[in-house]
Amino acid sequence: MNIRPECYHDVAIIETVTIAAFKNHPHSNQTEHKIVSGLRTGSALSISLVAEFNGTVIGHIAFSKVKINNEFIDWYGLAPVSVIPEFQNQGIGSQLINAGLKALQELGALGCVLLGEPEYYTRFGFKSEPQLILNEVPPEYFLSLVISGDMPSGVVSYHQAFSL
Ligand SMILES: CC(C)(COP(=O)(O)OP(=O)(O)OC[C@H]1O[C@@H](n2cnc3c(N)ncnc32)[C@H](O)[C@@H]1OP(=O)(O)O)[C@@H](O)C(=O)NCCC(=O)NCCS
Repeated sequence: MNIRPECYHDVAIIETVTIAAFKNHPHSNQTEHKIVSGLRTGSALSISLVAEFNGTVIGHIAFSKVKINNEFIDWYGLAPVSVIPEFQNQGIGSQLINAGLKALQELGALGCVLLGEPEYYTRFGFKSEPQLILNEVPPEYFLSLVISGDMPSGVVSYHQAFSL
């Protein structure tokens, strides 16, 4: 299994992987692949990594800049992360997340937020922080990780591709 940045020829398979991963997800409206392409089109896909097995892409993770109180302060959002169902629960999602966090650090990111299951993401150091707010989302599912510096406070907003 190899994790590497996306190439131009991965675009279609990333879409397929994202659709397959979220197909039966209880909280998905199946637009995650459109978010990825919206970020790419808007030059806002800051980090896009694929997990490749035997020459086939089986997983993907995306990071994009978020605003806190309407300002970019080198914080990023992790979303979406996808592993095709046949390969889930084999550690590939964890490897993608760890590789993504390393790439964020190399980019000079100060922190990262995500919306997701605390049970899963706390193992990477993410936790719910009351001073970082994503409107209309229960705080226990909005998680953050400081990479460098202090935890900021305020309202977080994602790229417009997330509003599709
Ligand atoms: C979430 C996802 C990326 C994790 O990738 P993965 O390769 O299956 O995960 P790993 O093998 O690294 O980790 C498996 C562990 O995560 C747990 N896990 C996976 N998804 C979970 C979820 N939604 N809630 C709670 N725990 C979860 C598993 O129970 C397992 O726990 P264990 O290690 O205690 O046995 C993958 O399951 C997936 O694509 N799911 C559908 C899309 C999705 O939900 N994406 C995240 C929202 S952006």
